[in-house]
Amino acid sequence: MTTRLIVFLLTALIIGACGGEEPKSKEESNASFKEKAAARFGLTVFELDNGVGPIKENIELKPVNKELAAMGEKLFIEKCSQCHKLDERYTGPAIRNASKDRSPEYILNMILNPEEMTKKHPEAKKMLAMYANQMTFQNVTQDDAFKLLEYLRSVSNN
Ligand code: HEC
Repeated sequence: MTTRLIVFLLTALIIGACGGEEPKSKEESNASFKEKAAARFGLTVFELDNGVGPIKENIELKPVNKELAAMGEKLFIEKCSQCHKLDERYTGPAIRNASKDRSPEYILNMILNPEEMTKKHPEAKKMLAMYANQMTFQNVTQDDAFKLLEYLRSVSNN
């Protein structure tokens, strides 16, 4: 057999083996796996990662802004501390490491839209079942929610 024929046969074999469908890259099959997982909950992939609510896009995090974090601490004492402590379970979960465990967008959506979150998001539903108490919206503006996020980032053990 000539080399050319061997190359031809090998090529034919490879093309034949791949069949009609393009083989999927790892990213592609991960993406479609995630889409299916999200769809099972009636959510988009973004919502599964980042919660359901007014925050619909990824935000860009900068290093913690101490001034905003200090304003967030005031808000926290006023509007959140009746249910949350940093290191102990209370009416709600211990909150020190929330910003480590969840995406910043998820935290913001939880602060801004807790009631829908506990109805629709699998993680928030789990929390509701564990704490048997509904976190309620505390009349915080989106600006306030960002300050609270800065506060939570400032206290987390990174
Ligand atoms: C009435 C009590 C109550 C108040 C007030 C409250 N929370 Fe919650 N929070 C909860 C409970 C309970 C949960 C668990 C989910 C549920 O059961 O609703 C929770 C969950 C959370 C979570 C999700 C934690 C995680 O790991 O998923 C964050 C973040 C959070 N609260 C932040 C806040 C902030 C910030 C405030 C103040 C604006 C606040 N909460 C006010 C009771 C409360």
